[in-house]
Amino acid sequence: MFAKRHVISMREFSREEIDSVLDLAESLEPYARGGRCEALRGKILALLFFEPSTRTRLSFETAMMRLGGKTLSLGPAEGSAMAKGESLADTIRVIGAYADALVIRHPKEGSARLASEFSPVPVLNAGDGAGHHPTQTLLDLYTIRKESRLDDLKIALVGDLKYGRTVHSLAYALALYGAEITLVSPSTLEMPDRIKADLAGNGTIVRETHALEDVLGEVDVLYITRIQKERFPDPYEYLKVAKSYRIGADSLEGARDRLIIMHPLPRVDEIAPEVDGTRHAVYFRQSFYGVPVRMALLKMLIGDRLE
Ligand code: CP
Repeated sequence: MFAKRHVISMREFSREEIDSVLDLAESLEPYARGGRCEALRGKILALLFFEPSTRTRLSFETAMMRLGGKTLSLGPAEGSAMAKGESLADTIRVIGAYADALVIRHPKEGSARLASEFSPVPVLNAGDGAGHHPTQTLLDLYTIRKESRLDDLKIALVGDLKYGRTVHSLAYALALYGAEITLVSPSTLEMPDRIKADLAGNGTIVRETHALEDVLGEVDVLYITRIQKERFPDPYEYLKVAKSYRIGADSLEGARDRLIIMHPLPRVDEIAPEVDGTRHAVYFRQSFYGVPVRMALLKMLIGDRLE
């Protein structure tokens, strides 16, 4: 089902395929916590990060190490031959001959797709501008499955829905599970029309509001995101929306008892530290779940066996 394929967008995944990744992640979680596994011994994963990252880069590295494999990293573009004018396409062709799979994060939307056209080995999109972040979505779904439920889910996606690639990918995946989605954003940062049209086209129930308090008492999952400062062409426009939403302990008074709060992280001001110790906060466990989920994906893509 997965061997040697590229992972560029959640639109290319079926529900059955997602479930198979989540099931394998569940069985690998003990190894993600430190058990011994050699399923990818002898395999190499190349990391090409042209934008900052903590979780995605290090959890891919951890995943590879926990499976007995190794990683190599291009490092900053200024330290590579790209500084001499080498194209992304040639860079990918070359590194694809050194590794068994490539992970790429790039500020330009479509760059992972471009990389996949030149790569002899599987390419995993670790975020392409405001486009997609499919491996984040897989770990988000794993988190929801473990900490809440995927069936009959009511979820609010909150914050920067225009530039936030995690919510773009997640919205497509949630539609496969029949979730009811409420979109909460400032008017200038609404979910792109093409994504809303795709969701409506497959019958997904989608509501929109600008007021977080409208939905707090009604949802099982609150998925809040950072306003993506680096994507704004005009810094003044960023300042106008920078503090649009903030969850504090007082915001949670009318929330469902079993509400979980998720965030792909990093956070800036969206969640007050006082929320971290509440039963609702799952965002640090969420970032850990990136390890078993990426282990599962890598094993399925480049493992020699599917046991
Ligand atoms: N969630 C996420 O993509 O985090 P990083 O930017 O730290 O990789």
